[in-house]
Amino acid sequence: MIVRFISADGATTEEARGAPGDSLLDLAQAYGQPLEGTCEGQMACSTCHVIVAAEDFDRLPPASEEEEDMLDLAVGATRTSRLACQIALTDALDGLTVKMPPAARDMRRWR
Ligand code: FES
Repeated sequence: MIVRFISADGATTEEARGAPGDSLLDLAQAYGQPLEGTCEGQMACSTCHVIVAAEDFDRLPPASEEEEDMLDLAVGATRTSRLACQIALTDALDGLTVKMPPAARDMRRWR
């Protein structure tokens, strides 16, 4: 199954090949996307925030309350934002397109 990662400036698209059960965060990192995932999926950081393409958003299972709370803290969050660590890939998500948030690169610079 294919997942498309779009850079924060929209200039580049990377097509990644994932398998059902993979986490979206792991796949993004395997393909060099700038997602830190500092808490490794514990829903304690929001550095795995991605913006899901509007046309794909409804294909995802809804976010939990804890995920919504973390997204409130994510810089540049939008209506279709999700935490990549909370998304397990399934065949139904083939062709999913997600964009990197504008702040991802900035957060690394602040370290
Ligand atoms: Fe920390 Fe997803 S890796 S919330």
